[in-house]
Amino acid sequence: MTWDWSQAGRMGPDGKPQKIKDEHGHITYDSRKGQFGLGENVVPEYLWFNGKVSYTLQTDKINPDGPVAINTFHGTPGAADARIWPVKRFRGRQPYDTENLNLLVPHSAIPDDTAYWYNFDWDKALKVGAAATGVPFSGKYGFVDTEMLWPITHMVAPKEDAVDCIECHKQGGRLEGIAGVYIPGRDRNAWIDNIGWLLVGLTTVGSLGHGLVRILTRRRQDTHDDDTHGARS
Ligand code: HEC
Repeated sequence: MTWDWSQAGRMGPDGKPQKIKDEHGHITYDSRKGQFGLGENVVPEYLWFNGKVSYTLQTDKINPDGPVAINTFHGTPGAADARIWPVKRFRGRQPYDTENLNLLVPHSAIPDDTAYWYNFDWDKALKVGAAATGVPFSGKYGFVDTEMLWPITHMVAPKEDAVDCIECHKQGGRLEGIAGVYIPGRDRNAWIDNIGWLLVGLTTVGSLGHGLVRILTRRRQDTHDDDTHGARS
């Protein structure tokens, strides 16, 4: 769910790069990569999505107050080309140029004397990364909060754990923030409610009346049966 690059570079007690795991054996800290936040059975967020995504590019100016939207999903509520999608909001903290105000890509992996994973030196890794990706680098950097949306087509629960109707069909449910649809249980319309209750009332009156008529006619039939000396059992 989260990845904080600003925490990278902390060595273990032996002075060497370390990895820390949680009780399930999943890595939550790695000196090369930083701090991770994991989640399980996370309720997704929902939004209208028409399949079009725009991305913040390295050449774009960012607002260092963050969070910077790494991507933006487009879609108008109720539009014919849009659907309600579940998404994961992945939160990061990553390097940017504090003077030029653009995101920076570090040189990370190839074992040489500038790669972050082998030297733990942001200055070198960011300088080489900026040159390789074609953006200017002022030499000054910081870390900014970022967010990226992932459409959920993976990490989906097995069908036995399918989402219950009530998760969406209630007030304060999963689709609370979704405009453009009438969701029974979440939304109300006085007319629909009144007509509905009127139908419930009429149905009750109707079935009670019907039952009463049957009881009355049955008595009459019983009398008739007596007349014919129990010919009908
Ligand atoms: C993931 C969220 C979600 C779940 C789970 C869900 N619904 Fe819905 N439901 C919706 C939305 C959104 C609409 C409105 C659709 C629209 O207006 O196009 C809706 C509409 C409806 C409607 C009205 C249909 C109509 O034509 O207006 C009924 C009835 C309904 N749902 C029943 C159920 C039942 C029964 C279940 C469980 C088996 C269920 N829903 C589970 C989101 C959900």
